Amino acid sequence: MIKDMQKEILRLKEQKDICILAHCYQGHEILEVADFVGDSYVLAKKAAEVKNKIVIMCGVRFMAETVKILSPDKTVILSNAEAGCPMAEQVKLEELKKFKEENANCAVVAYINTTAELKTLCDVCVTSASALKIVKAMPEKDILFIPDVNLGTYIKNNVEGKNIKLIDGGCPYHKTATAEDVARAKAAHPEALLLAHPECCSCVTEKADYIGSTTGIMDFAKKSDKKEFIIGTENSIVEHLQFDCPDKKFYPLTKNLVCHDMKLTTLGDVLDCCKGEGGEEIVLKEKTRLAAKACIDKMIAYGG
Ligand code: 13P
Ligand code: SF4
Repeated sequence: MIKDMQKEILRLKEQKDICILAHCYQGHEILEVADFVGDSYVLAKKAAEVKNKIVIMCGVRFMAETVKILSPDKTVILSNAEAGCPMAEQVKLEELKKFKEENANCAVVAYINTTAELKTLCDVCVTSASALKIVKAMPEKDILFIPDVNLGTYIKNNVEGKNIKLIDGGCPYHKTATAEDVARAKAAHPEALLLAHPECCSCVTEKADYIGSTTGIMDFAKKSDKKEFIIGTENSIVEHLQFDCPDKKFYPLTKNLVCHDMKLTTLGDVLDCCKGEGGEEIVLKEKTRLAAKACIDKMIAYGG
């Protein structure tokens, strides 16, 4: 049955000139029908490059918005209209306007996990994969980083010569991982390396053998000579790595690291989108799109 649905998706993709982009946190059966799978930096770059008329984004809303911002002539569909990243809306537009008025010397750096509307007020966007490189490359010394306090702290600790202000936002799931989780997982799996996403707090990243984006974590585990890994990011990565590396072992850092928004999209949703019956077409005002595009363009220019 799943195979039949996948076959039909592949047929419709071909017939209607559809490209499917999938974030690494999507289910295995969705990754199997995707044209490109990756972290948010990989997907943003692909968004600018793909030639198809229709793009279906299997991920969350800010990712689909990024595709529309970079490819306005394409029809961009978010695979499940309910799938949003709670972090993307943590800063209010009015709050950010006020901050900018009071701190005219500060550049505003936004994690890509923000709404298109918020991006219109930001100078540069970053992703977890590109943040250090971009902030190092920026000429501005005074920076407000929104909204993830953990990624912001990671940047602060690894970039010299900047004055970085943070706010208290962040991923509600990555934030749940604690020092106790690290101690418990390491005690249970003493040979395993800890691979962590910078959305985790420093009590986790300080103990990590590798810190990186979702694609970074997967690449590290695949290339490593080691055989066991504790995964400090969304637990779908544990499952995907097990498919890719059957000779290695992967353990979740904590059972709480499950993103309910990323889990919303089903293969049925993807099939409906291919039929033109489901998901939500992303529509942005041209003024918003152009203003938001400036900080994504800068991200790609600095990030390479
Ligand atoms: P990546 O940039 O590593 O894909 O992270 C996006 C995200 O939402 C992680 O929770
Ligand atoms: Fe947003 Fe966290 Fe889900 Fe990533 S894991 S999409 S940051 S809620």
